[in-house]
Amino acid sequence: MGADDFPILGIDYVHLYVESAVKSVQNLSHLFGFDEVAYAGPETGCHSALSHMLTQGNARLVVTSSCENEKVTSHIWRHVARHGDGVKDIALRVMSVEAAYRKAIERGARPVHGPIVLWDEHGMVRRAAIHTYGDTFHSFVERHEYHGPFMPGYREVGVVQSRNMGLQAIDHIVGNVELGQMNTWAQFYADVMGFSNRVHFTDSQISTEYSALMSKVMEDGSGNIKFPINEPAIGKKGRSQIQEYLDVYQGPGVQHIAFATGNIIMTVSEMRAHGVKFLNIPQTYYDDVRTRFADVPEVDIDMLARLGILVDRDEDGFLFQIFTKHVVDRPTLFFEIIERRGSRGFGLGNFKALFEAIERDQRARGAL
Ligand code: FE2
Repeated sequence: MGADDFPILGIDYVHLYVESAVKSVQNLSHLFGFDEVAYAGPETGCHSALSHMLTQGNARLVVTSSCENEKVTSHIWRHVARHGDGVKDIALRVMSVEAAYRKAIERGARPVHGPIVLWDEHGMVRRAAIHTYGDTFHSFVERHEYHGPFMPGYREVGVVQSRNMGLQAIDHIVGNVELGQMNTWAQFYADVMGFSNRVHFTDSQISTEYSALMSKVMEDGSGNIKFPINEPAIGKKGRSQIQEYLDVYQGPGVQHIAFATGNIIMTVSEMRAHGVKFLNIPQTYYDDVRTRFADVPEVDIDMLARLGILVDRDEDGFLFQIFTKHVVDRPTLFFEIIERRGSRGFGLGNFKALFEAIERDQRARGAL
């Protein structure tokens, strides 16, 4: 199976269910530079939920909260009560929802709903949805006959001032699944959507004294969609950060969304200036970087150290990356900012430094 067998045009949007859509919009726009471009709610005929769609570059996020008086009946409210704010749906844009949904179900995907058509004066969107890990969905979205701001039911929101902080697209989205389930879900992406396993990290590569995990990077035929899948491994001491996530999120779900930037120095400077909190990296990490990158004068290590940006290299080139602290109340979802200069990897050389930073935060929560 390859790209032609299950063509995906891209990640259409990532949909988060949150306790307060209004507050999430404020955070995403003020801290991270997203612009709100479309809205659905009681004013547009949706009386059960508030949804805001935000963009930056080609990345689209939707945040939805319940606005029903009797919240217990709301599936949005129940999702938030169980998991906290989190990703409900990674929507995939396809040429044909009919074909994508039919193939996915034939190949063993569990249906959420079959193809439906949504209309408004801007045209037509077709969509369907399947389950992936935990309570997470993949919607399939077909929108070549639609010319509105986002989706029927949404109205345009006038962007007053673009806050762009340089994010260009979603680079990858990582899921955490239970011990022993990484291969099951890797196989799901292979069987259902023809993804292939590009990289496999074992716990011997990704471990510290306290925490260990295994990870498989699943990639679609085009190489544009990357879904790494993590499972906890038994650490020598303490609780894997993946296990902490599973306990606190009450099941599998999205751990982080990585956004690509063309200029990570600018992006991180802007975000820090607006109050984004990133994982602290010890200065000793940069002592090591100075040795590893002694032959690369164009990498400004002092600047990276000042901003806490990690750097890695492989046979294809470099990558720069940084991880936020959790962006929701529970220690579950966080964001990554990544700039690729050739490298198609995921920063294996940084895992140890990164995990030690995560463990310092875990310890502060008494979770280690
Ligand atoms: Fe990542």
